[in-house]
Amino acid sequence: MWQLLPPTALLLLVSAGTQAADLPKAVVLLDPQWDRVLKDDHVTLKCQGDYPLGDNSTQWWHNGTLIPNQASSYFITDAKVEDSGDYKCQTGLSTLSDPVKLKVYVGWLLLQAPRWVVQEGEPIKLKCHSWKNTTVRKVQFFQNGQGKQFSYQNSDFCIPEAKLEHSGSYFCRGIIGSKNESSEAMNITVQGQENPPTSSSFFPPWHQITFFLVMGLLFAVDTGLYFSVKRALRNSKEDWRNGKVTWTQGPQGK
Ligand SMILES: *[C@@H]1O[C@H](CO)[C@@H](O)[C@H](O)[C@H]1NC(C)=O
Ligand SMILES: *[C@@H]1O[C@H](CO)[C@@H](O)[C@H](O)[C@H]1NC(C)=O
Ligand SMILES: *[C@@H]1O[C@H](CO)[C@@H](O)[C@H](O)[C@H]1NC(C)=O
Ligand SMILES: *[C@@H]1O[C@H](CO)[C@@H](O)[C@H](O)[C@H]1NC(C)=O
Ligand SMILES: *[C@@H]1O[C@H](CO)[C@@H](O)[C@H](O)[C@H]1NC(C)=O
Repeated sequence: MWQLLPPTALLLLVSAGTQAADLPKAVVLLDPQWDRVLKDDHVTLKCQGDYPLGDNSTQWWHNGTLIPNQASSYFITDAKVEDSGDYKCQTGLSTLSDPVKLKVYVGWLLLQAPRWVVQEGEPIKLKCHSWKNTTVRKVQFFQNGQGKQFSYQNSDFCIPEAKLEHSGSYFCRGIIGSKNESSEAMNITVQGQENPPTSSSFFPPWHQITFFLVMGLLFAVDTGLYFSVKRALRNSKEDWRNGKVTWTQGPQGK
């Protein structure tokens, strides 16, 4: 019988359902930005979200388990392999954040990048990070096995404007002490501009369009039903009062 609810009640139900989703999602930020680090690195995870008055506590999850830290930042002072995994946070006036993945490696050299997928025209930035920032000499960067940069000291490599052919597998190597060390390889993907990601944000996703179409339809049908039932009731009441109901004609006709 829910179809016969007055349309305003239905509208109230719909708006109550969307209220919880109106809170912004919390965001986990890494400082420094690297999503892969070496053992003994320092990493700060920051939770961005709104707080209600008088409640400045933040909840943190690591691999889905609530951790004791309630401050808005979570400090990892000397990273261990077990600190790897998914981190999520939430504040009093935000919903649960998306997970941020952190991975802690054991080794001498690690390739780091702010992003592993870049848009054509954006810069590609790579860092050849060494364990405990030990000095690295004769640093080389490779793409698909080909040397791209050689430097006596500089552990950073930058391509100011990425082109599609810059996609590929990258690694770095260099001399630490007297040893020749290499990082593991990482893939960089350069995405073309034919389908810029911003265009999708101009249109709501299809399920939302469907949702509003269905709600609109239900509203129209419900309004129609509501008034037709009301009219039918009023008519039958009037018929009753005017003595027009058909069965009363039976005895009169005799
Ligand atoms: C390595 O150097 C960076 C940049 O100078 C610094 O932020 C970081 O704390 C250092 N890491 C370690 C383990 O000392
Ligand atoms: C919240 O704020 C109070 C007072 O400013 C402070 O003592 C407390 O440590 C804070 N708690 C958290 C979890 O940040
Ligand atoms: C969390 O998960 C990652 C990988 O999924 C694992 O390497 C790490 O040891 C886990 N840490 C804890 C504390 O569960
Ligand atoms: C490091 O080793 C590679 C071979 O594994 C060699 O080709 C390269 O020249 C060495 N680098 C230096 C700076 O000696
Ligand atoms: C990089 O891409 C290649 C080919 O697309 C794939 O075989 C390889 O597993 C990828 N490597 C990493 C580290 O993701």
